[in-house]
Amino acid sequence: MTKIETILGTLPEAVSHTFGQGKPANYIPALAEVCGNKFGMAISTAKGRDFIVGDAEEAFSIQSISKVFSLSLAMHYAGEKVFERVGVEPSGNPFHSLSQLEYENGIPRNPFINAGALVVADILLSNLNSPKQDFLDHIRSISKNLDIQYDERVFRSEYDNGQRNAALAYYLKSFDNIKNPIAQVLDFYFYLCSLNMSCLDLARASRFLADDGRHPFKDKSVVSPLQTRRINTLMMTCGTYDEAGEFAFHVGLPCKSGVGGGIVAIVPGKMSLCVWSPELGKKGNSLPGMQALKTFVEQTGLAVF
Ligand code: DON
Repeated sequence: MTKIETILGTLPEAVSHTFGQGKPANYIPALAEVCGNKFGMAISTAKGRDFIVGDAEEAFSIQSISKVFSLSLAMHYAGEKVFERVGVEPSGNPFHSLSQLEYENGIPRNPFINAGALVVADILLSNLNSPKQDFLDHIRSISKNLDIQYDERVFRSEYDNGQRNAALAYYLKSFDNIKNPIAQVLDFYFYLCSLNMSCLDLARASRFLADDGRHPFKDKSVVSPLQTRRINTLMMTCGTYDEAGEFAFHVGLPCKSGVGGGIVAIVPGKMSLCVWSPELGKKGNSLPGMQALKTFVEQTGLAVF
């Protein structure tokens, strides 16, 4: 057994004291139904080995983790032009905040807050022939899992509770920072959030970020080495919303979270990780997930600083 495997095996026990301290997301009713004390974690190394523990093969709602994959694909198609329409600064605000958009003239702070992700979704709509199918095919290809699907109930629930996202999209449109019809942008954005994947799928799918942008299973690139570095930087500074400072301080890895309780983390050049546990802290990030990453880094010394 490798050292990584041994440490991974200790994590379910090491985080068990955090169960009951947070709550699964309930603003989307379909998410509130998930059993709170699930815990899974997967690691995929740049050399192509996978390690898993706990509920690592159970699919869950990836939610905002999709923003990493949509940004990567948008950068693949539109390159630097993405950053003419979305900034690269941490927002220090909740992920669905509207306030900065007004005084920053419709340019979202970064691609990982909802406003930024709506612009990224719009860029993809302009570049993909069949946006939902093309995106799904891409995700299936980089995670080597043809069974990945979206969850219709979560998708509907996003719609029924998507008033803030609709407000953001209309507001962005008023600054001409949305080019496609708003209904299409929202529909695609909700679809991205409602994909179901497991920790193992997500660790594999994000492996390109630990490997200079190389596709994990094919002889081609997902993004360039420079783009890989930029996406990792944005994950470090903006990937966990207004808790990004805490994550950088305590974990020290590029991370992207979702309100389904998943967090993807990257050890550049070495491995990608995904941890899932649905109970969230006040800022919308998984509490046991953050604890697991913190413990993993303490024990392996694999933080980037
Ligand atoms: O936009 C929304 O409300 C969600 N479906 C995505 C939220 C999400 O995961 C944000 N973050 N943690």
